[in-house]
Amino acid sequence: MKLSISIICSLGITTVLAQHNLSWTPPGPDDVRGPCPMLNTLANHGILPHSGYNISQEITIKALSSAVNFTSNLAEFLFAFALTTNPEQNATVFNLHQLGTHDILEHDASLSRSDKFFNTSDAFNKDVFAETTSYWPGDVIDLQKAATSRHARALTSVGKNPSFTFSELARGFAHGEVAALPLVFGDRVAGTAPKDLVVSFFENERLPVDLGWKTPALAIGNLDLCEMTQRVINASGATLEQAQEILPCIDFDA
Ligand code: HEM
Ligand code: MG
Repeated sequence: MKLSISIICSLGITTVLAQHNLSWTPPGPDDVRGPCPMLNTLANHGILPHSGYNISQEITIKALSSAVNFTSNLAEFLFAFALTTNPEQNATVFNLHQLGTHDILEHDASLSRSDKFFNTSDAFNKDVFAETTSYWPGDVIDLQKAATSRHARALTSVGKNPSFTFSELARGFAHGEVAALPLVFGDRVAGTAPKDLVVSFFENERLPVDLGWKTPALAIGNLDLCEMTQRVINASGATLEQAQEILPCIDFDA
């Protein structure tokens, strides 16, 4: 039953993505972007406001469901985190650059961004990303390669950045960001993603439709993201039982 609902929803969602017509324009001088390559991408396509400003819960839910088939519960959950980066009291919207406030959600040892200590942690950094991709040999990124790159970036930062921090929240987010890659770009059962799609996405902040990418057919809920995150933690060296203890999963969509 749940599966058939997901399939019906995803058919509708694919149509919505087609309706976006996927125009793409880089940010202009008055537009803001932040440290999340996917939210930047969606703004570049106009699926989120192209300015990067005034992103409400409703806008977030529509954008994430139409572009990457996230359930509204997962989008709502992420939106609540995003709101914590808006310094205004009782804010109902966030702006993409606010996500870059260091040590709220933005953390050190990102896959494609510098640590704040050295440089901006918002913009794509080709040297940092070159280190990450050096752990992705071959055409396919599996969970082992993804986890190894995640760990290597942390070790580099520990070694070089005297102000290195990695809170519990950062640890959860950092592994969750890696887990989003197979869910959005690849095969959720195998935990793999085609490297060309992932690299193109990071480098261009553009959905890689020209390389054959499509909106995932099955909806992605918080349980899918949480369980994939447990698999990344598992691939990082913890047993699956330890990963489940570190990050227990609750199904918001049940
Ligand atoms: C990174 C927020 C949705 C993929 C980040 C970061 C933030 C963030 C604050 C920076 C963390 C860092 O310092 O590296 C959000 C919010 C979302 C959202 C609030 C939804 C409302 C998504 C989605 C994807 C995604 C749908 C799907 C692929 C990533 C990836 C990174 C990231 C791969 C890591 C970038 C790196 O390490 O260089 N996100 N994100 N995010 N996000 Fe998002
Ligand atoms: Mg960062």
